[in-house]
Formats: sequence, structure tokens, C-alpha cells
Amino acid sequence: MYSATAPAKIILCGEHAVVYNEPAIAVPVSSLRAEATIQETGQSFQLIAHDFNDKKLTLQDDDPLIQAVRLTLSHLQQDVPDATLTVQSAIPPASGLGSGAAVSAAIVRALLSYFDATLPLDTINSIVYEIEKIHHGTPSGIDNTTVVYEKPVYFIRGQQPRTIETSSAIQLVIADTGQAALTRPTVEDVRHLYTNQPEQTRPVIQRIGELTRQAQSALKQADCQLLGQLMTENHQLLRHLTVSSSQLDGLVNVAVKNGAAGAKLSGGGRGGNMIALVTDNTIDKVMNALRQAGAVRVFSTAIQPEHVTD
Ligand code: PMV
Repeated sequence: MYSATAPAKIILCGEHAVVYNEPAIAVPVSSLRAEATIQETGQSFQLIAHDFNDKKLTLQDDDPLIQAVRLTLSHLQQDVPDATLTVQSAIPPASGLGSGAAVSAAIVRALLSYFDATLPLDTINSIVYEIEKIHHGTPSGIDNTTVVYEKPVYFIRGQQPRTIETSSAIQLVIADTGQAALTRPTVEDVRHLYTNQPEQTRPVIQRIGELTRQAQSALKQADCQLLGQLMTENHQLLRHLTVSSSQLDGLVNVAVKNGAAGAKLSGGGRGGNMIALVTDNTIDKVMNALRQAGAVRVFSTAIQPEHVTD
């Protein structure tokens, strides 16, 4: 049995603007993972996806999960194994948590483990990016990069991603509106605004870029107050881009009213998850308030400073 996992991710700042070459910051959520397992069977290859109605696929199927298998086999110059590849994921799909990228990364890594092979992280990243294109159309690449490197990432499209180090732990609360929302239509709608209403839209995108640059320094210095303010401003700017929803706005307001340093939607928007920046003093109150306000799943995660051991 060969298995591998990959984490969820959330975007701290800069979603949507990142499609227009502004920076974005994303962090992995290591406690929430997708897993792929390969079991030798001696029979022709099949892929079973537990979180997609237990769908069973063969190598001939036209499906992003199968594309991930085909691309990996072709990089490794290996034939398809006589085995069953099972995928399961604790990451809710279509909720801004990078579930598609995590599932693809887990599949690639399970195959590497099966063939006792390695590939450079950049190559794994480029395979997962190819699958992201099938899911999203014109993805910036931030999801696959954060999921594959499993580090906080300062990401600019087309540039080598830079990892960010925070000086002390930053706590985040993640709350799900319970509404699934696909990223692709939101990205297309922002593209429409960008093309048809450039005077209103471009300054919003540029300001998101600017505040993301400020957020990078705030994150490095673990300056929660500034980072929180920038996150809340980012949410307001995303509203201008029409990618928020009344549920997301409601949860953001509740978080801030109950003591969060800042809050915003995270990911494509119109549903999915929001995030709130909290401290030891505010975390319980914010989590309870979000639950009471109707969030279907509320949990916390922390961005930890890296401890270098030798
Ligand atoms: O919805 P998610 O978590 O996949 O995030 C998408 C982020 C966008 O900036 C909206 C699109 C992209 O490709 O970067």
C-alpha cells in the first residue's frame, strides 16, 4: 500500500488581483488534507474517488483525476500499474480551500511513492498546475504552489514563488458559509469587469496589490493589528469586484464585531469560506459568534514560525 497526502490552503490576501499579476499571499492548512492510496491488485488500473459519489474511473476516462495520473506516468516514463488508486479528501470542494489542487498533488505523490521515484517540487507543481487549468480555466497558480510547497507563499504569477517566514504564530479562524461556489465563474466575471469597466476596476485591483505588499511585511513582523486591517480592507475591495455574498459579508461583520483583528472572504468568493485573524484572547468568542451566525463549519489554524532544527 502506497499513500500520500497534501494540505488545503487559504488565501490571506490578493485573490482575483493575482490573476492580473498583482501579488497574493496564501498559506497551507496542514490539518485539513486530501489523501491518495495505491493498492496493487494485479488487475487493470482503476481510480475510486470517495468524495465524488464514489466515482470509479479507468485510464481511458476524460477526468481531471485521470489526467493527473496520466501526466505523472508520462513524466516518470512508467506504464500504468495494475492497481487501484483511491482518493479521499477532508477538504470540502468548491469552497476556496484548494481541494482540487490538494487532490491532484496527493495523486502525483502517491504515484511517486508507488514507483519509488522523486520529482523536483517545481515539476510536481507544474503537473498540478496543468490539472488546475482543467478545473479553473485560467488559474494564477497560487493554489497548486501553496499546496505543493506546503509553506506560506508570496506569489506573483509567472515568477518563482517566495516563501514567507513569520516571526511569531498567527492564528486564523476559518468559517464555511456552507454554500459551494465554483471559482471559474467568479474569475470570468471579474475579467468582464476588468475589460468593460476598466476605470472602476483597475484601481481596485491595484489597491489589492498594494495592500498585499504591506501585508507581506505585516505577516513577517507578526503585526496582527495591521494585517487584520489590511484583510478587512481587502474584503471591501473584493465586494467591489462583486465576488462577495450576503453570507460572507455577514460572517465578516460578525467576526470583526466580536474582536477579530480583521476578516475577509478567502478564495474565489460568492460562497465558500471566510477567514478571521484572531488572538488567544479573541479566538473563542469569534468562533462561537461565527457558529451562532450560521457558519456550517468553524475551525482554527495557525501560521507557525519555522523552527529550523539541525
Ligand atoms: O477559490 P480558490 O481557493 O481556488 O482561489 C482562487 C483564487 C483566485 O485568485 C480567485 C483565482 C486564481 O486562479 O488565482
